[in-house]
Amino acid sequence: MLSIEGLSVAADGRPLLRDLTLEIAQGRTLALVGASGSGKSTACAAALGVQAANLAVRGRVCLDGRPVAPGQLRGRVVASILQNPRSGFNPLRSMRDHMRETCRALDRPWSEAAAQDLLAEVGLEDPGRVLGLYAFEMSGGMLQRVAIALALLGGAPFLFADEPTTDLDLVVQARILDLMERSRDRAGLGLMLITHDMGVVARLADEVAVLEAGALVERGPVGQIFHAPRHPVTRMLVAAHLALYGQELPA
Ligand SMILES: Nc1ncnc2c1ncn2[C@@H]1O[C@H](COP(=O)(O)OP(=O)(O)OP(=O)(O)O)[C@@H](O)[C@H]1O
Ligand SMILES: [Mg+2]
Repeated sequence: MLSIEGLSVAADGRPLLRDLTLEIAQGRTLALVGASGSGKSTACAAALGVQAANLAVRGRVCLDGRPVAPGQLRGRVVASILQNPRSGFNPLRSMRDHMRETCRALDRPWSEAAAQDLLAEVGLEDPGRVLGLYAFEMSGGMLQRVAIALALLGGAPFLFADEPTTDLDLVVQARILDLMERSRDRAGLGLMLITHDMGVVARLADEVAVLEAGALVERGPVGQIFHAPRHPVTRMLVAAHLALYGQELPA
C-alpha cells in the first residue's frame, strides 16, 4: 500500500495543493480527477519530488506505513508518465539510449528483444526502427507511447500516469488501457490515473478522488461517484460525461 500523506504545495505562499491524503493499493486503480488547473499534475509531481523549483512542498509518501524519500521512490517503487512527454526526452539521445539508461538506473538487464516487445505492446509499428529515433523525429502520440513503455520497463509496483492517453487516437488509446489493465491484473500494479476523461475513469478506476482548487472535495468507489455524486464539481464532471451519451444525472 502506498500512501500520500498531508501533501501541500505552495508558490510564493499561494497554496496550489492543500493537505492531500490518498492511498493507492496494489492491483487497484485510483483516478484523480478535477477541472483543468485544480492541481492534479502538481500533486503527482510533488509526490515524486519532481515539482518545479519555485514550489514549496510539505508532506510525505509512505510505503506500507514507512516514509520513503523521493529519490528512493521514483522508478523503483513508483514509475511515472508525466504530462507532456516531449519534455521528458533528451533531444540528443535516441529512444534506445533512453530505454537502456532506464534499465541501467534500475539495475535491470538490457535486452533489445524485450525493449522491442514492449514497444510493440504499446502499439508502435516497426519497433526496431523506433529504437533508433530521436524525439524530434517522432509525433506526440509516438513519444507518449515510448513514455508508457519506459514506465513499464522497470517493473515498479506502482504507476502514476498523468493523462497517459490524451494524445492518442481512440484505437491506440483502447490498446494502452488494455495494457494497463493487464499490468494491474497480472502484476498487481497499483495505478494512480490522472485524467479528464470520465469514460476512462468508468473503464479502469476502482476509486475516484476529486480535486477542486487544490483541495480534495470528494472521494469514493467508482460506482458511487457515477451514480450518487455529492459535490457540485463531481456532479458537473459526471453530468458532462453523461451528456455525451444524451443522458442526464437524476436530480
Ligand atoms: N511552478 C508553478 N508556479 C506557480 N504556479 C504553478 C506552477 N505549476 C503549476 N502552477 C499552478 O498550479 C495550479 C494547478 O496546476 P496543475 O498543472 O497541477 O493543474 P492540473 O489539474 O494538472 O490541470 P490540467 O488538467 O490542465 O493538466 C494552476 O493554477 C497552475 O497555474
Ligand atoms: Mg495536469
